[in-house]
Amino acid sequence: MTAETQTNAAADPAAKSMDDIMALCKRRGFIYPASEIYGGINGFWDYGPLGAQLKKNLKDAWWRDTVLCPPDGPDGKPVSIVGLDTSIIQNPKVWQASGHVAGFNDPMVDDKETKQRFRADHLFGLFFLERDENESFKSSDDRLTALIQTGALLPKATVVAGSAEEAFEVVRANIKKIFRDAQILHSDVHIGASRADFQYIDKNGRYHIGDIKQIDEGVLRTAAINIPSPATQRTGTLTEPRAFNLMFPTVVGATGDPELDKAYLRPETAQGIFINYKNVLDTTRVRVPFGVAQMGKAFRNEVTPRNYTFRSREFEQMEIEFFCHPSTTREWYAFWRDQRLAWWRSLGLTGANLHLREHDRDELAHYAKTGAGTSDIEYRFPFTAPGFGELEGVADRSDFDLRQHAEHSGAKLEYFDQERNERYMPHVVEPSAGADRGVLALICEAYTPDPSRPSKVYMKFHPRVAPVKAAVFPLVNKDGMPEVGERLYKDLRARFGAVEFDPKQSIGKRYARMDEAGCPYCFTIDAETLSDQTVTVRHRDTQQQERVALAAVPAWLGERIL
Ligand code: GAP
Repeated sequence: MTAETQTNAAADPAAKSMDDIMALCKRRGFIYPASEIYGGINGFWDYGPLGAQLKKNLKDAWWRDTVLCPPDGPDGKPVSIVGLDTSIIQNPKVWQASGHVAGFNDPMVDDKETKQRFRADHLFGLFFLERDENESFKSSDDRLTALIQTGALLPKATVVAGSAEEAFEVVRANIKKIFRDAQILHSDVHIGASRADFQYIDKNGRYHIGDIKQIDEGVLRTAAINIPSPATQRTGTLTEPRAFNLMFPTVVGATGDPELDKAYLRPETAQGIFINYKNVLDTTRVRVPFGVAQMGKAFRNEVTPRNYTFRSREFEQMEIEFFCHPSTTREWYAFWRDQRLAWWRSLGLTGANLHLREHDRDELAHYAKTGAGTSDIEYRFPFTAPGFGELEGVADRSDFDLRQHAEHSGAKLEYFDQERNERYMPHVVEPSAGADRGVLALICEAYTPDPSRPSKVYMKFHPRVAPVKAAVFPLVNKDGMPEVGERLYKDLRARFGAVEFDPKQSIGKRYARMDEAGCPYCFTIDAETLSDQTVTVRHRDTQQQERVALAAVPAWLGERIL
Protein backbone atom coordinates (compact mmCIF):
# COMPACT_ATOMS: atom_id res chain seq x y z
CA MET A 1 0.00 0.00 0.00
CA THR A 2 1.44 3.41 -0.95
CA ALA A 3 1.40 6.31 1.44
CA GLU A 4 -1.39 7.82 -0.62
CA THR A 5 -3.70 4.79 -0.55
CA GLN A 6 -2.92 4.46 3.11
CA THR A 7 -4.16 7.98 3.76
CA ASN A 8 -7.23 7.30 1.66
CA ALA A 9 -7.99 4.17 3.66
CA ALA A 10 -7.62 6.16 6.83
CA ALA A 11 -9.97 8.90 5.67
CA ASP A 12 -12.47 6.94 3.62
CA PRO A 13 -14.83 4.96 5.85
CA ALA A 14 -15.94 2.79 2.94
CA ALA A 15 -12.34 1.57 2.72
CA LYS A 16 -12.42 0.44 6.35
CA SER A 17 -13.82 -2.99 7.03
CA MET A 18 -16.37 -3.15 9.81
CA ASP A 19 -15.37 -6.78 10.39
CA ASP A 20 -11.77 -5.71 10.96
CA ILE A 21 -12.84 -2.92 13.30
CA MET A 22 -15.04 -5.28 15.30
CA ALA A 23 -12.25 -7.86 15.46
CA LEU A 24 -9.87 -5.26 16.88
CA CYS A 25 -12.49 -4.12 19.40
CA LYS A 26 -12.91 -7.70 20.60
CA ARG A 27 -9.19 -8.55 20.55
CA ARG A 28 -8.11 -5.47 22.48
CA GLY A 29 -11.03 -5.25 24.87
CA PHE A 30 -13.03 -2.27 23.57
CA ILE A 31 -16.37 -4.02 23.03
CA TYR A 32 -17.65 -7.57 23.70
CA PRO A 33 -21.04 -9.08 22.80
CA ALA A 34 -23.20 -9.09 25.96
CA SER A 35 -23.75 -12.53 27.57
CA GLU A 36 -21.24 -13.99 25.15
CA ILE A 37 -20.66 -17.25 27.05
CA TYR A 38 -24.40 -17.92 26.83
CA GLY A 39 -24.56 -17.26 23.10
CA GLY A 40 -25.08 -13.49 23.36
CA ILE A 41 -28.29 -11.45 23.35
CA ASN A 42 -29.26 -9.45 20.28
CA GLY A 43 -28.98 -5.68 20.65
CA PHE A 44 -26.83 -5.59 23.81
CA TRP A 45 -23.11 -4.97 24.17
CA ASP A 46 -20.53 -4.86 26.97
CA TYR A 47 -17.60 -2.46 27.02
CA GLY A 48 -14.23 -3.99 27.92
CA PRO A 49 -11.50 -2.13 29.84
CA LEU A 50 -10.41 0.07 26.92
CA GLY A 51 -13.97 0.69 25.71
CA ALA A 52 -15.21 1.59 29.19
CA GLN A 53 -12.42 4.15 29.57
CA LEU A 54 -12.99 5.55 26.06
CA LYS A 55 -16.70 5.95 26.75
CA LYS A 56 -16.00 7.54 30.13
CA ASN A 57 -13.60 10.00 28.51
CA LEU A 58 -16.29 10.95 25.98
CA LYS A 59 -18.94 11.43 28.67
CA ASP A 60 -16.53 13.35 30.92
CA ALA A 61 -15.68 15.65 28.01
CA TRP A 62 -19.40 16.22 27.36
CA TRP A 63 -20.17 16.91 31.04
CA ARG A 64 -17.24 19.27 31.37
CA ASP A 65 -17.96 21.15 28.14
CA THR A 66 -21.73 21.43 28.58
CA VAL A 67 -22.44 21.52 32.33
CA LEU A 68 -19.28 22.73 34.04
CA CYS A 69 -17.80 24.94 31.36
CA PRO A 70 -20.33 25.61 28.58
CA PRO A 71 -19.47 28.01 25.75
CA ASP A 72 -20.52 31.65 25.92
CA GLY A 73 -23.99 32.29 24.50
CA PRO A 74 -24.95 34.29 21.40
CA ASP A 75 -24.82 37.46 23.52
CA GLY A 76 -21.25 36.67 24.63
CA LYS A 77 -22.34 35.96 28.21
CA PRO A 78 -21.76 32.63 30.03
CA VAL A 79 -24.52 30.10 29.35
CA SER A 80 -26.26 28.79 32.44
CA ILE A 81 -26.57 24.98 32.63
CA VAL A 82 -27.10 22.55 35.51
CA GLY A 83 -26.93 18.76 35.58
CA LEU A 84 -29.44 16.11 36.68
CA ASP A 85 -29.45 12.37 37.25
CA THR A 86 -33.04 11.10 37.21
CA SER A 87 -34.57 7.64 37.59
CA ILE A 88 -34.74 5.18 34.74
CA ILE A 89 -38.19 4.12 35.93
CA GLN A 90 -40.75 6.88 36.43
CA ASN A 91 -44.48 7.00 37.00
CA PRO A 92 -45.95 5.50 33.77
CA LYS A 93 -48.08 8.65 33.38
CA VAL A 94 -44.87 10.41 32.28
CA TRP A 95 -44.83 8.28 29.13
CA GLN A 96 -48.52 8.83 28.49
CA ALA A 97 -48.00 12.59 28.67
CA SER A 98 -44.88 12.49 26.49
CA GLY A 99 -46.71 10.53 23.78
CA HIS A 100 -44.48 7.44 24.06
CA VAL A 101 -47.25 5.04 25.17
CA ALA A 102 -49.44 5.93 22.22
CA GLY A 103 -46.95 6.83 19.56
CA PHE A 104 -43.50 5.29 20.02
CA ASN A 105 -44.10 2.50 17.53
CA ASP A 106 -42.47 0.69 14.63
CA PRO A 107 -44.59 -1.19 12.06
CA MET A 108 -43.95 -4.95 12.26
CA VAL A 109 -44.84 -8.04 10.29
CA ASP A 110 -44.48 -11.66 11.46
CA ASP A 111 -43.73 -14.63 9.28
CA LYS A 112 -46.58 -17.01 10.07
CA GLU A 113 -44.52 -20.13 9.34
CA THR A 114 -41.16 -19.38 10.94
CA LYS A 115 -42.43 -16.88 13.56
CA GLN A 116 -39.64 -14.49 12.54
CA ARG A 117 -40.40 -10.80 12.90
CA PHE A 118 -39.41 -8.01 10.49
CA ARG A 119 -39.84 -4.29 10.25
CA ALA A 120 -42.50 -3.68 7.62
CA ASP A 121 -40.71 -0.60 6.35
CA HIS A 122 -37.66 -2.71 5.50
CA LEU A 123 -39.74 -5.09 3.40
CA PHE A 124 -42.17 -2.91 1.60
CA GLY A 125 -39.53 -1.55 -0.72
CA LEU A 126 -39.07 -5.02 -2.15
CA PHE A 127 -42.63 -5.12 -3.25
CA PHE A 128 -42.49 -1.54 -4.37
CA LEU A 129 -39.74 -2.19 -6.89
CA GLU A 130 -40.89 -5.60 -8.04
CA ARG A 131 -44.24 -4.28 -9.08
CA ASP A 132 -42.55 -1.39 -10.68
CA GLU A 133 -39.87 -3.00 -12.77
CA ASN A 134 -41.59 -2.61 -16.13
CA GLU A 135 -43.29 0.66 -15.42
CA SER A 136 -42.10 4.16 -16.23
CA PHE A 137 -39.72 4.44 -13.34
CA LYS A 138 -36.99 6.36 -15.06
CA SER A 139 -35.20 9.58 -14.66
CA SER A 140 -33.30 11.80 -17.04
CA ASP A 141 -30.52 12.01 -14.47
CA ASP A 142 -28.13 9.07 -14.77
CA ARG A 143 -27.18 8.99 -11.13
CA LEU A 144 -30.77 8.68 -10.05
CA THR A 145 -31.56 6.04 -12.66
CA ALA A 146 -28.54 4.09 -11.46
CA LEU A 147 -29.72 4.39 -7.89
CA ILE A 148 -33.12 3.07 -8.83
CA GLN A 149 -31.71 0.25 -10.94
CA THR A 150 -29.30 -0.93 -8.27
CA GLY A 151 -32.25 -1.18 -5.96
CA ALA A 152 -31.12 1.60 -3.69
CA LEU A 153 -34.76 2.41 -3.23
CA LEU A 154 -35.45 -0.99 -1.78
CA PRO A 155 -34.83 -0.49 1.89
CA LYS A 156 -35.87 3.14 1.76
CA ALA A 157 -39.46 3.03 0.64
CA THR A 158 -41.68 2.48 3.59
CA VAL A 159 -45.12 1.42 4.65
CA VAL A 160 -46.44 2.35 8.06
CA ALA A 161 -49.20 0.73 10.01
CA GLY A 162 -51.17 3.96 10.23
CA SER A 163 -53.44 5.64 7.71
CA ALA A 164 -52.61 5.84 4.01
CA GLU A 165 -51.93 9.53 4.53
CA GLU A 166 -49.29 8.74 7.16
CA ALA A 167 -47.80 6.09 4.90
CA PHE A 168 -47.53 8.57 2.04
CA GLU A 169 -45.74 10.99 4.33
CA VAL A 170 -43.13 8.42 5.29
CA VAL A 171 -42.58 7.24 1.73
CA ARG A 172 -42.19 10.83 0.67
CA ALA A 173 -39.59 11.59 3.33
CA ASN A 174 -37.62 8.47 2.44
CA ILE A 175 -37.56 9.24 -1.24
CA LYS A 176 -36.37 12.73 -0.46
CA LYS A 177 -33.53 11.26 1.58
CA ILE A 178 -32.43 9.26 -1.46
CA PHE A 179 -32.23 12.45 -3.47
CA ARG A 180 -30.13 14.01 -0.76
CA ASP A 181 -27.80 11.01 -0.57
CA ALA A 182 -27.35 11.29 -4.34
CA GLN A 183 -26.32 14.89 -3.71
CA ILE A 184 -29.27 16.25 -5.62
CA LEU A 185 -29.69 19.71 -4.27
CA HIS A 186 -33.35 20.46 -4.32
CA SER A 187 -36.14 17.97 -4.71
CA ASP A 188 -39.80 17.58 -4.15
CA VAL A 189 -42.01 14.54 -4.15
CA HIS A 190 -45.76 14.67 -4.65
CA ILE A 191 -47.67 11.61 -3.59
CA GLY A 192 -51.35 11.67 -4.30
CA ALA A 193 -54.06 9.04 -3.99
CA SER A 194 -53.22 7.35 -7.27
CA ARG A 195 -49.85 8.52 -8.46
CA ALA A 196 -46.56 9.94 -7.31
CA ASP A 197 -44.30 12.39 -9.07
CA PHE A 198 -40.90 13.67 -8.25
CA GLN A 199 -39.18 16.81 -9.37
CA TYR A 200 -35.70 17.97 -8.64
CA ILE A 201 -32.98 20.35 -9.60
CA ASP A 202 -29.58 18.78 -10.15
CA LYS A 203 -26.19 20.21 -9.34
CA ASN A 204 -26.05 22.03 -12.68
CA GLY A 205 -29.33 23.76 -12.01
CA ARG A 206 -31.31 21.60 -14.47
CA TYR A 207 -34.90 20.79 -13.66
CA HIS A 208 -36.16 17.19 -13.85
CA ILE A 209 -39.56 15.67 -13.42
CA GLY A 210 -40.51 12.00 -13.30
CA ASP A 211 -43.26 9.57 -12.51
CA ILE A 212 -42.56 7.40 -9.48
CA LYS A 213 -45.30 4.84 -9.75
CA GLN A 214 -48.96 4.13 -9.45
CA ILE A 215 -49.50 4.06 -5.75
CA ASP A 216 -52.79 3.92 -3.95
CA GLU A 217 -54.27 2.96 -0.62
CA GLY A 218 -54.97 -0.58 -1.73
CA VAL A 219 -51.31 -1.12 -2.57
CA LEU A 220 -50.31 0.05 0.85
CA ARG A 221 -52.90 -2.05 2.64
CA THR A 222 -52.05 -5.26 0.82
CA ALA A 223 -48.35 -4.55 0.74
CA ALA A 224 -47.30 -6.80 3.55
CA ILE A 225 -49.19 -9.87 2.45
CA ASN A 226 -47.88 -9.57 -1.10
CA ILE A 227 -44.26 -9.23 -0.14
CA PRO A 228 -42.16 -12.38 -0.41
CA SER A 229 -41.07 -13.17 3.13
CA PRO A 230 -37.30 -13.05 3.67
CA ALA A 231 -37.75 -16.16 5.80
CA THR A 232 -39.62 -18.38 3.30
CA GLN A 233 -38.91 -16.50 0.05
CA ARG A 234 -42.64 -16.87 -0.70
CA THR A 235 -45.55 -14.45 -0.66
CA GLY A 236 -48.49 -15.00 1.62
CA THR A 237 -46.62 -16.00 4.76
CA LEU A 238 -46.38 -12.53 6.31
CA THR A 239 -49.01 -10.96 8.54
CA GLU A 240 -50.29 -7.43 7.96
CA PRO A 241 -48.22 -4.71 9.63
CA ARG A 242 -48.96 -4.09 13.30
CA ALA A 243 -47.74 -1.29 15.53
CA PHE A 244 -45.09 -2.46 17.97
CA ASN A 245 -44.27 -0.26 20.97
CA LEU A 246 -40.55 0.20 21.48
CA MET A 247 -40.67 0.75 25.24
CA PHE A 248 -39.54 -2.03 27.57
CA PRO A 249 -42.33 -2.70 30.06
CA THR A 250 -41.52 -3.92 33.57
CA VAL A 251 -43.47 -4.62 36.75
CA VAL A 252 -42.96 -2.52 39.87
CA GLY A 253 -44.04 -3.67 43.34
CA ALA A 254 -44.79 -6.78 45.31
CA THR A 255 -48.13 -7.76 43.78
CA GLY A 256 -46.46 -8.19 40.41
CA ASP A 257 -49.64 -7.55 38.43
CA PRO A 258 -48.39 -7.05 34.87
CA GLU A 259 -51.10 -4.50 34.05
CA LEU A 260 -51.80 -2.72 37.38
CA ASP A 261 -48.12 -2.40 38.29
CA LYS A 262 -46.83 -1.83 34.78
CA ALA A 263 -43.99 0.67 34.38
CA TYR A 264 -41.43 1.30 31.65
CA LEU A 265 -37.70 1.62 31.32
CA ARG A 266 -37.14 5.13 29.94
CA PRO A 267 -36.74 5.33 26.15
CA GLU A 268 -35.00 8.74 26.45
CA THR A 269 -33.40 10.73 29.27
CA ALA A 270 -35.17 13.94 28.19
CA GLN A 271 -38.44 13.39 30.04
CA GLY A 272 -36.63 13.13 33.39
CA ILE A 273 -35.54 16.72 32.75
CA PHE A 274 -38.99 18.06 31.80
CA ILE A 275 -40.68 16.60 34.88
CA ASN A 276 -38.00 18.19 37.12
CA TYR A 277 -37.94 21.56 35.37
CA LYS A 278 -39.98 23.17 38.16
CA ASN A 279 -37.80 21.59 40.88
CA VAL A 280 -34.70 23.01 39.23
CA LEU A 281 -36.23 26.48 39.02
CA ASP A 282 -37.38 26.32 42.66
CA THR A 283 -34.12 25.03 44.12
CA THR A 284 -31.38 26.73 42.12
CA ARG A 285 -30.65 30.25 40.93
CA VAL A 286 -31.06 29.53 37.22
CA ARG A 287 -33.43 31.73 35.26
CA VAL A 288 -34.62 31.52 31.65
CA PRO A 289 -32.65 31.13 29.43
CA PHE A 290 -30.97 28.10 31.00
CA GLY A 291 -30.23 24.48 30.21
CA VAL A 292 -30.53 21.21 32.10
CA ALA A 293 -28.25 18.37 31.07
CA GLN A 294 -28.42 14.68 31.79
CA MET A 295 -26.63 11.61 30.59
CA GLY A 296 -27.64 8.05 31.24
CA LYS A 297 -29.08 4.82 29.97
CA ALA A 298 -32.10 4.63 27.69
CA PHE A 299 -33.83 1.47 26.51
CA ARG A 300 -35.68 0.76 23.28
CA ASN A 301 -36.87 -2.64 22.19
CA GLU A 302 -35.61 -1.97 18.66
CA VAL A 303 -37.18 -4.36 16.18
CA THR A 304 -33.98 -4.83 14.25
CA PRO A 305 -30.93 -3.89 16.31
CA ARG A 306 -27.98 -3.74 13.94
CA ASN A 307 -24.75 -2.21 12.76
CA TYR A 308 -22.81 -3.16 15.86
CA THR A 309 -23.59 -0.73 18.71
CA PHE A 310 -25.21 1.82 16.34
CA ARG A 311 -28.75 0.58 16.97
CA SER A 312 -28.81 -1.17 20.34
CA ARG A 313 -31.62 -1.95 22.74
CA GLU A 314 -29.75 -0.49 25.70
CA PHE A 315 -27.72 2.63 25.05
CA GLU A 316 -26.66 5.87 26.63
CA GLN A 317 -27.76 9.38 25.77
CA MET A 318 -26.26 12.79 26.55
CA GLU A 319 -29.09 15.32 26.39
CA ILE A 320 -29.52 19.03 27.02
CA GLU A 321 -32.94 20.64 27.29
CA PHE A 322 -32.41 24.37 26.87
CA PHE A 323 -35.33 26.53 28.09
CA CYS A 324 -35.72 29.93 26.49
CA HIS A 325 -38.22 32.70 25.70
CA PRO A 326 -40.24 31.71 22.57
CA SER A 327 -39.01 34.76 20.66
CA THR A 328 -35.38 33.65 21.10
CA THR A 329 -35.74 30.02 19.98
CA ARG A 330 -34.30 30.56 16.53
CA GLU A 331 -31.17 32.17 17.95
CA TRP A 332 -30.62 29.42 20.54
CA TYR A 333 -31.35 26.71 18.00
CA ALA A 334 -28.65 28.07 15.64
CA PHE A 335 -26.29 28.47 18.59
CA TRP A 336 -26.62 24.89 19.82
CA ARG A 337 -26.55 23.39 16.33
CA ASP A 338 -23.23 25.11 15.58
CA GLN A 339 -21.75 24.49 19.03
CA ARG A 340 -22.53 20.79 19.01
CA LEU A 341 -21.00 20.31 15.56
CA ALA A 342 -17.88 22.15 16.71
CA TRP A 343 -17.74 19.96 19.83
CA TRP A 344 -17.65 16.69 17.90
CA ARG A 345 -14.97 18.18 15.67
CA SER A 346 -12.91 19.12 18.73
CA LEU A 347 -12.77 15.42 19.68
CA GLY A 348 -11.14 14.42 16.41
CA LEU A 349 -14.06 13.99 13.96
CA THR A 350 -12.51 16.71 11.85
CA GLY A 351 -12.88 15.60 8.25
CA ALA A 352 -15.67 15.22 5.73
CA ASN A 353 -16.99 12.17 7.59
CA LEU A 354 -18.86 14.50 9.93
CA HIS A 355 -21.51 16.84 8.63
CA LEU A 356 -24.63 18.69 9.62
CA ARG A 357 -27.92 17.94 7.91
CA GLU A 358 -30.75 20.38 8.36
CA HIS A 359 -34.11 18.58 8.11
CA ASP A 360 -36.59 19.57 5.45
CA ARG A 361 -39.72 21.07 6.93
CA ASP A 362 -41.84 18.07 5.92
CA GLU A 363 -39.50 15.72 7.80
CA LEU A 364 -40.01 17.44 11.14
CA ALA A 365 -41.65 15.83 14.15
CA HIS A 366 -45.15 17.03 15.00
CA TYR A 367 -43.92 19.29 17.82
CA ALA A 368 -41.29 20.89 15.63
CA LYS A 369 -43.39 21.71 12.55
CA THR A 370 -43.65 25.42 13.15
CA GLY A 371 -40.37 25.84 15.00
CA ALA A 372 -36.87 26.99 14.26
CA GLY A 373 -35.89 23.63 12.79
CA THR A 374 -34.24 20.30 13.40
CA SER A 375 -30.84 19.16 12.30
CA ASP A 376 -28.83 16.00 12.62
CA ILE A 377 -25.12 15.84 13.19
CA GLU A 378 -24.22 12.80 11.13
CA TYR A 379 -21.12 10.63 10.76
CA ARG A 380 -20.19 8.55 7.74
CA PHE A 381 -19.72 5.12 9.32
CA PRO A 382 -18.19 2.29 7.24
CA PHE A 383 -21.62 0.60 7.23
CA THR A 384 -23.47 3.74 6.09
CA ALA A 385 -20.91 4.97 3.54
CA PRO A 386 -21.35 6.72 1.20
CA GLY A 387 -24.34 7.77 3.33
CA PHE A 388 -24.31 9.04 6.90
CA GLY A 389 -25.79 7.90 10.24
CA GLU A 390 -27.16 10.13 13.01
CA LEU A 391 -24.88 10.92 15.95
CA GLU A 392 -26.85 13.73 17.53
CA GLY A 393 -30.11 15.52 16.82
CA VAL A 394 -30.65 19.21 17.58
CA ALA A 395 -34.35 20.03 17.71
CA ASP A 396 -36.63 22.90 18.52
CA ARG A 397 -39.20 21.07 20.68
CA SER A 398 -41.24 24.26 21.21
CA ASP A 399 -43.29 24.12 24.46
CA PHE A 400 -44.73 20.72 23.53
CA ASP A 401 -43.32 18.70 26.45
CA LEU A 402 -43.93 21.26 29.18
CA ARG A 403 -47.53 21.75 27.98
CA GLN A 404 -48.15 18.00 27.87
CA HIS A 405 -46.84 17.55 31.42
CA ALA A 406 -48.73 20.58 32.71
CA GLU A 407 -51.94 19.19 31.23
CA HIS A 408 -51.48 15.59 32.40
CA SER A 409 -50.10 16.31 35.88
CA GLY A 410 -52.00 19.50 36.71
CA ALA A 411 -48.71 21.15 37.75
CA LYS A 412 -48.25 24.82 36.87
CA LEU A 413 -45.21 24.87 34.64
CA GLU A 414 -45.45 28.39 33.25
CA TYR A 415 -42.57 30.69 33.99
CA PHE A 416 -42.81 34.23 35.28
CA ASP A 417 -40.06 36.28 33.70
CA GLN A 418 -39.32 39.19 36.03
CA GLU A 419 -37.13 41.00 33.55
CA ARG A 420 -39.81 40.95 30.87
CA ASN A 421 -42.67 41.11 33.38
CA GLU A 422 -44.31 38.33 31.40
CA ARG A 423 -45.71 34.85 32.11
CA TYR A 424 -45.10 32.22 29.46
CA MET A 425 -44.31 28.58 28.79
CA PRO A 426 -40.62 28.43 27.82
CA HIS A 427 -39.66 26.87 24.51
CA VAL A 428 -37.03 24.16 24.42
CA VAL A 429 -34.04 23.56 22.16
CA GLU A 430 -32.76 20.01 22.57
CA PRO A 431 -29.30 18.78 21.56
CA SER A 432 -29.60 14.99 22.05
CA ALA A 433 -26.52 12.84 21.48
CA GLY A 434 -25.85 9.12 21.72
CA ALA A 435 -22.79 8.19 23.79
CA ASP A 436 -22.50 4.73 22.21
CA ARG A 437 -22.80 6.10 18.69
CA GLY A 438 -20.20 8.70 19.68
CA VAL A 439 -17.83 5.96 20.84
CA LEU A 440 -18.45 4.03 17.64
CA ALA A 441 -17.71 7.09 15.51
CA LEU A 442 -14.50 7.76 17.47
CA ILE A 443 -13.44 4.13 16.98
CA CYS A 444 -14.23 4.14 13.23
CA GLU A 445 -12.45 7.47 12.73
CA ALA A 446 -9.41 6.36 14.76
CA TYR A 447 -9.00 3.03 12.97
CA THR A 448 -6.03 3.55 10.64
CA PRO A 449 -4.62 0.64 8.61
CA ASP A 450 -0.83 0.81 8.27
CA PRO A 451 0.82 -2.29 6.80
CA SER A 452 4.27 -0.95 7.69
CA ARG A 453 3.69 -1.53 11.41
CA PRO A 454 3.87 -4.83 13.27
CA SER A 455 0.23 -4.30 14.34
CA LYS A 456 -0.82 -3.41 10.74
CA VAL A 457 -3.20 -0.87 12.22
CA TYR A 458 -3.25 1.84 14.85
CA MET A 459 -6.02 3.76 16.59
CA LYS A 460 -5.51 7.47 16.05
CA PHE A 461 -7.61 8.76 18.95
CA HIS A 462 -7.56 12.42 19.88
CA PRO A 463 -5.46 12.52 23.10
CA ARG A 464 -8.45 13.90 25.02
CA VAL A 465 -10.47 10.72 24.50
CA ALA A 466 -7.64 8.17 24.15
CA PRO A 467 -8.32 5.39 26.69
CA VAL A 468 -4.59 5.10 27.49
CA LYS A 469 -2.80 8.44 27.65
CA ALA A 470 0.75 7.10 28.01
CA ALA A 471 2.70 3.89 28.58
CA VAL A 472 5.97 3.35 30.40
CA PHE A 473 8.28 0.54 29.28
CA PRO A 474 11.58 -0.53 30.88
CA LEU A 475 13.58 -1.69 27.83
CA VAL A 476 14.72 -4.79 29.74
CA ASN A 477 13.32 -6.15 32.97
CA LYS A 478 16.61 -5.73 34.91
CA ASP A 479 19.54 -3.38 35.64
CA GLY A 480 17.35 -1.00 37.66
CA MET A 481 15.18 -0.06 34.65
CA PRO A 482 11.93 -1.52 36.07
CA GLU A 483 12.38 0.51 39.28
CA VAL A 484 12.89 3.79 37.40
CA GLY A 485 9.97 2.93 35.13
CA GLU A 486 7.67 2.11 37.99
CA ARG A 487 8.41 5.42 39.69
CA LEU A 488 7.64 7.33 36.47
CA TYR A 489 4.50 5.23 35.94
CA LYS A 490 3.18 5.98 39.43
CA ASP A 491 3.87 9.68 39.02
CA LEU A 492 2.11 9.87 35.61
CA ARG A 493 -0.80 7.72 36.81
CA ALA A 494 -1.37 10.03 39.79
CA ARG A 495 -1.51 13.04 37.46
CA PHE A 496 -3.20 11.69 34.34
CA GLY A 497 -5.03 8.48 35.34
CA ALA A 498 -5.03 6.14 32.39
CA VAL A 499 -1.33 5.23 32.10
CA GLU A 500 0.05 1.70 31.57
CA PHE A 501 3.24 0.05 32.79
CA ASP A 502 4.47 -2.94 30.78
CA PRO A 503 7.86 -4.53 31.55
CA LYS A 504 7.43 -7.70 29.47
CA GLN A 505 7.83 -8.84 25.82
CA SER A 506 9.88 -7.27 23.04
CA ILE A 507 9.66 -3.51 22.69
CA GLY A 508 8.13 -3.96 19.21
CA LYS A 509 5.27 -6.05 20.61
CA ARG A 510 4.67 -3.53 23.36
CA TYR A 511 4.48 -0.67 20.85
CA ALA A 512 2.11 -2.75 18.72
CA ARG A 513 -0.23 -3.35 21.66
CA MET A 514 -0.27 0.36 22.47
CA ASP A 515 -0.85 1.26 18.79
CA GLU A 516 -3.99 -0.87 18.84
CA ALA A 517 -5.07 0.71 22.13
CA GLY A 518 -4.56 4.17 20.60
CA CYS A 519 -2.00 5.30 23.22
CA PRO A 520 -0.45 8.53 21.86
CA TYR A 521 2.92 8.38 23.71
CA CYS A 522 5.16 5.56 24.96
CA PHE A 523 8.14 6.29 27.25
CA THR A 524 11.01 3.81 27.32
CA ILE A 525 13.59 3.57 30.11
CA ASP A 526 16.86 2.29 28.67
CA ALA A 527 20.55 2.18 29.51
CA GLU A 528 20.95 5.86 28.63
CA THR A 529 18.27 6.77 31.16
CA LEU A 530 20.44 5.38 33.92
CA SER A 531 23.43 7.44 32.79
CA ASP A 532 21.92 10.72 31.59
CA GLN A 533 18.42 10.78 33.11
CA THR A 534 16.59 11.00 29.74
CA VAL A 535 13.95 8.68 28.29
CA THR A 536 12.86 7.83 24.74
CA VAL A 537 9.38 8.99 23.81
CA ARG A 538 7.75 7.37 20.81
CA HIS A 539 4.94 9.18 18.99
CA ARG A 540 2.06 6.91 17.95
CA ASP A 541 1.09 8.64 14.69
CA THR A 542 4.55 9.20 13.18
CA GLN A 543 6.42 6.41 15.03
CA GLN A 544 9.18 8.98 15.49
CA GLN A 545 11.25 8.96 18.63
CA GLU A 546 12.95 11.70 20.63
CA ARG A 547 14.61 12.00 23.99
CA VAL A 548 13.15 13.94 26.87
CA ALA A 549 14.56 14.56 30.34
CA LEU A 550 13.05 12.09 32.80
CA ALA A 551 12.11 14.88 35.21
CA ALA A 552 10.41 16.83 32.41
CA VAL A 553 8.12 13.96 31.31
CA PRO A 554 5.02 14.91 33.38
CA ALA A 555 5.03 18.49 32.09
CA TRP A 556 5.84 17.36 28.52
CA LEU A 557 2.90 14.93 28.57
CA GLY A 558 0.51 17.35 30.29
CA GLU A 559 1.07 19.90 27.52
CA ARG A 560 0.04 17.36 24.89
CA ILE A 561 -2.87 15.48 26.39
CA LEU A 562 -4.80 17.94 28.56
N1 GAP B 1 -34.91 13.11 23.30
C1 GAP B 1 -34.79 12.99 21.90
C2 GAP B 1 -34.34 11.66 21.44
O1 GAP B 1 -34.28 10.70 22.20
P1 GAP B 1 -33.54 10.35 19.34
O2 GAP B 1 -33.14 10.87 17.98
O3 GAP B 1 -34.54 9.28 19.38
O4 GAP B 1 -34.02 11.64 20.13
C3 GAP B 1 -31.16 10.78 20.30
O5 GAP B 1 -32.23 9.89 20.09
C4 GAP B 1 -29.83 10.08 20.08
O6 GAP B 1 -29.79 8.87 20.83
C5 GAP B 1 -29.60 9.66 18.63
O7 GAP B 1 -29.05 10.71 17.86
C6 GAP B 1 -28.63 8.51 18.79
O8 GAP B 1 -27.30 9.02 18.90
C7 GAP B 1 -29.03 7.90 20.12
N2 GAP B 1 -29.86 6.70 19.89
C8 GAP B 1 -31.18 6.64 19.63
N3 GAP B 1 -31.59 5.36 19.48
C9 GAP B 1 -30.49 4.59 19.63
C10 GAP B 1 -30.24 3.18 19.61
N4 GAP B 1 -31.23 2.30 19.41
N5 GAP B 1 -28.97 2.73 19.82
C11 GAP B 1 -27.97 3.61 20.04
N6 GAP B 1 -28.14 4.94 20.09
C12 GAP B 1 -29.39 5.44 19.90
